[in-house]
Amino acid sequence: MIHIINGNKTYNSYEVKKEALRDVDFHIGAGEFVAIMGTSGSGKSTLLHILGCMDRLSSGQYLFGETDISKLGVNEWHDFRREHISFVFQNFALINQYTVRENIMIPLKANHVAKTERVRRVNQVAKMLGIEDILNKLPPHISGGQQQRTAIARAIVGDNELLLCDEPTGALDKKTGIEVMEILREIHKGGKTIVVVTHDAEIAEYADRIVRIEDGVLFENPMQ
Ligand SMILES: Nc1ncnc2c1ncn2[C@@H]1O[C@H](COP(=O)(O)OP(=O)(O)OP(=O)(O)O)[C@@H](O)[C@H]1O
Ligand SMILES: [Mg+2]
Repeated sequence: MIHIINGNKTYNSYEVKKEALRDVDFHIGAGEFVAIMGTSGSGKSTLLHILGCMDRLSSGQYLFGETDISKLGVNEWHDFRREHISFVFQNFALINQYTVRENIMIPLKANHVAKTERVRRVNQVAKMLGIEDILNKLPPHISGGQQQRTAIARAIVGDNELLLCDEPTGALDKKTGIEVMEILREIHKGGKTIVVVTHDAEIAEYADRIVRIEDGVLFENPMQ
């Protein structure tokens, strides 16, 4: 489903050039659950941002299904992201002035889904994630684990093919983090392609395949 071919990313924003990704070749099959592991500064978020069409490669090719992402103009690129990709972040990235229900509804509104269908879909994912009781609450009034469940609900409500998670358990205690990974496994069983970035080996074990990144270089099968 996804191919990065000879991908390089160089940041030029500081005095010194930083090669954050070097000659990366990465394939993700449809329905895979992949963990990207690496130490701080190794290039994990950079790779995830490229996969998520939030940033572009400096050179190389990014293919998503039949689409050559590297060739899309800015508008097509944003549309592609909205229609195919969802994100879960370490710090949840919820809108604090919106209720849990309104937060989950955001992608459906962006894709012009009709109101009755929006309500049905929100109730469905809320039930799946065990957050039906807090739909009318604001994010600052619920726990971190509940905020991350809300963020996951928002990420899967639109049913995009690819779910990208950047340290989704990083702001949670161990037990809650494991609950979040178990939720992701359930979502994966439903057929979604999931990529999780983490520096925690125990968290990475929830994925079916682990790749490691060191100073911008990607290694497959680090355990073998
Ligand atoms: N916008 C930027 N401008 C310049 N350098 C950057 C930029 N973003 C990241 N970098 C550098 O690129 C390298 C990779 O950064 P990245 O954020 O991908 O690391 P990471 O593996 O996600 O780290 P962490 O675990 O701390 O989140 C680092 O050396 C970082 O300092
Ligand atoms: Mg990062």
